Formats: sequence, structure tokens, C-alpha cells
Amino acid sequence: MRIPLDHYSQLPLYRQIECFLHEEIDSGALQTDTKLPSTRELANSLGVNRITVINAYAELEAKGLVYTKLGSGTYVAYPPESLPDRKDQETDEQRWPLWQQQLSHKAMLPGELEKERIGLVSEPSEDLIWLAGGQGAVDLFPADDFRKSLQSILLRDKTEAMGYGDDAGYLPLRATIAHILANQGIHAHPKDILITTGSQQALSLVANLLLRPGDVVLLESPTYSGAIDLFTSEGAQLVGVPVDENGMQVERIEALLRTYHPKLIYTIPTFHNPTGACMSGTRRRQLVALAKKYNAPILEDEFVGDLRYDGRAQPALKSLDCCGDVIYTGTFSKMLMPGIRVGYLLASGPVYERLRAWKHTTDLASSNLIQRALEAYISVGRYQTHLNRARRIYRRRRDAAIAALHKYMPDDVEWITPQGGLFIWLKLPDGVTDHNLYASAISHKVAFAPGSLFFPAEKSRQFLRLNFVMHPGEIIAEGIRRLSEAISNSLGIASS
Ligand SMILES: Cc1ncc(COP(=O)(O)O)c(C=O)c1O
Repeated sequence: MRIPLDHYSQLPLYRQIECFLHEEIDSGALQTDTKLPSTRELANSLGVNRITVINAYAELEAKGLVYTKLGSGTYVAYPPESLPDRKDQETDEQRWPLWQQQLSHKAMLPGELEKERIGLVSEPSEDLIWLAGGQGAVDLFPADDFRKSLQSILLRDKTEAMGYGDDAGYLPLRATIAHILANQGIHAHPKDILITTGSQQALSLVANLLLRPGDVVLLESPTYSGAIDLFTSEGAQLVGVPVDENGMQVERIEALLRTYHPKLIYTIPTFHNPTGACMSGTRRRQLVALAKKYNAPILEDEFVGDLRYDGRAQPALKSLDCCGDVIYTGTFSKMLMPGIRVGYLLASGPVYERLRAWKHTTDLASSNLIQRALEAYISVGRYQTHLNRARRIYRRRRDAAIAALHKYMPDDVEWITPQGGLFIWLKLPDGVTDHNLYASAISHKVAFAPGSLFFPAEKSRQFLRLNFVMHPGEIIAEGIRRLSEAISNSLGIASS
């Protein structure tokens, strides 16, 4: 074991050893029941007196962090019940330089605080049915096909694929995306497309370019929690517009535009996150016209636009935009897999060059190798085949989820059947909140995304979001059955 010791420090050597081991135990690098080196061994390897190590171990033992087995040695203790509580962590934080203490508080954005408050489980465990996620089905990720594309690119493009590449993105991929967009009625020139590291980076570039602290952003309420955190981190003031089954209630927007003069309208018109709603054609046209009238740019986030299972396709806002008011962003994260981190934005006019320059400043370029592999994957038709399959399977899973909701949920739980996307938004009965239900659901071995995570300002606690694509139908149905039990329990508690 190598422990850095400072022989000139005012901190005695035994305390330096103790602090080092304490941190290793805290961080989990030294796990429970790990045997520590004998005092003789450690003293020899560190070149210190054995008494120094004995004293360090004694201090750790006094704190309950290690225990001694007679004749065997010293072991890491640290049972979960002795994990430092929040108060200890706060005093622990004070060890760090002041700028770090200030940073850690500043970086706690609303979404993170909310998740912390709820005690959100972030790691799905084996017996927990995880309906909380925001991605597509892992079992559908086309790992083998993508590996083939990657291999073919390494053979074909050799060192060309290893350089930074074009900062706007690999041109053939931009041309392919332009082609995909043309099928959705969007006239896009490859030179107006900027490849980004996921669409999150597209949102971030736009926010950074267009917003200054105090500026107002109009957005759906509820909306994507990653966008709430992002705009908040830019110091923007968020003004929410309610959503119904036809998407953002655009009728309310004109008054808000007059009052707040927003610098940005952010919307997820198609299979909205978290509600699954799809904005009607009439509202889409009204929104684009209003943005033009009030000189407010629209950021259209089309994160799952291609995952439609039934109903009539609606025009993208970008396809209704005559004059460059709409910045459109798309991603391969949900339709393909998030790990490739390829998204894009489409913007016309001077804003494009500014976004491109900012992208270059931020990260030089997105992965050249992955972009080439993705282009190869799409151009041999594998992407389309994958999409068709995903749509077929997701439709079945959606139907299974809706059937289970009808079968198991108490009468006063409400939902809208989504025509596409990943999510069902559930309204809980009076008296049950997402917070209270969360702990109970976890004990019933099912996890959902609490609705309050998605509200930009006034939080409603009466909703939750279910991902219906991540598991086969029978697992989703079982998850919904468990959830209905948790709701019924909470209702029992609420009425008693
Ligand atoms: C609505 C919405 N937009 C954008 C993103 C960002 O996705 P990515 O950066 O993986 O493309 C997400 C991720 O969950 C999302 O839900």
C-alpha cells in the first residue's frame, strides 16, 4: 500500500496514515472486511516506525472504521448503519478549500436537490422493476451491427477517422441527417446542420448563446428536467405553460409573450417528456406565428420524433418556419442508443455560425470515429431496420402497459394513452403524492420518475412518469401491478 506521507507537515505521520485510510474507506476503495496490511508490513513499506502504524490503526478502530481479529489482523468495518449522516458530511465538506465548498452548493441544481430530497434510487437492482428511466430498451441496442460498422470504418478510413474531423460534424453524416429530415418535411441543407454531443449539448449551446442571467424562457410545465437544470444554470427565469393531451397550451402564450418578452421558447412538441403528449397541428402553426410576431426564437427538441406508434404525424415546427425563427434539435440517443452521444441541431441564418463557433470553443468537435461509424450504420439501411423493429416492439409494450393500467389501477388514477415516445404520465388520486408514494413503491420493488422533478416552478406532487419501453410487456405489467398496490396502500393510509 502506497500512502503519500509528508515528513515536513505539522500533521503527525500517524494522523496522515489514519486520514488516508479513512478516505479510502469513505470512498469505497477499501471495502468492508478488506484486510489491511499488518502493522509491520505497512511500517516497512512506508519507512516509518511500527508504533506510528499501530497508532493510526488504533485511531481508526476508535472511530469504528476498522476492527481487529485476534491473531488474524485488522479489517475494514464500516457497516452501512455507520455511514456518515448528512450533518457529518457537512462538517466533512469544510475540510476543502473555500472555493470548493462554494462550488458544491452552487452546482446543486433544482433537479439534483429534488432527487436528493426524494432519495431517488439511481441504480436499478435485480428485483426492482425500473420504470423510471429516460431511455430506450437496452435489449434493443444494436450492439453487433454497430460493432460491424465501427470495424468497417476502421478498415476503410484508417487514420482519417482518428483525427478531430470537421468541427461542424462529419459531412456525409450531416447529409444523411438532412435526408432523414427531408422525409419529415424539413428542408435542411447539410451546411445548416451541426453535429453535437447528444442533443443536450445542442440545448446547452443555444442556452449559452441566447440567454443572459435574468432572461425569461417560456417552456412547457412540466418539461424535461435536464432542460430545467440547464436554463437555471444560465440564470434564466423559467415561465411554465401548462400542457394537455394536445401539447403546450399555446392559447396562453400570447399574454406571456407580451408580459415577459422571453428570449427563448423551449418546447418538446412530439411525444413530450414527461407527458407523452403530441402538440396538435393547429397549435404548432399558432406557436410558430406567435414566435415570429414577438421576435422570440423557438428551440424545438425532437428527441423521439420517429417513435410514432399510431395516429397522424404532425409537422415539425421547423418545417413551418419560413424565416429562421426555429432552431431544431434531434438525437440518436433514444431511437438508437445514448452511449454514442450523437445529436444534432439545425439552424438557419447567422445563428448557425455562432453556434458552430461556440461548439468549437467548448469541445473542438464530437467524436469523428463514432460519427463515421453511425453514418455507415445508417447508409447500409441498418438504422431504418432497427427503427421499424423498435417501433413494432415499443407499440406492443405500450399496449401492454395501457392494458395493465386498466386492469390494476384504482379508478381515480388518470392517464393519457401516448401515440408514441417512451412515457406515460399518471395523475395520482387526491391524497397521494409522488414523494410519499416513492418510498412505498420502492418497497414494492418498482421505481417510477416522480412528477415533481419535471416542474420548472410551482411543483405539483400529483404526477409520476412511467417508461413503458425498457422492459418486455409482462414485466411492465407486473411493475404496474406493484405500483397499483403501492397506490392502494397509500390511499389506505391517506384515508385512515
Ligand atoms: C427531451 C429531451 N431532450 C434532450 C435530451 C438529451 O438527450 P441526449 O443528450 O442523450 O441526446 C433528453 C434526454 O433524456 C430528453 O429527454
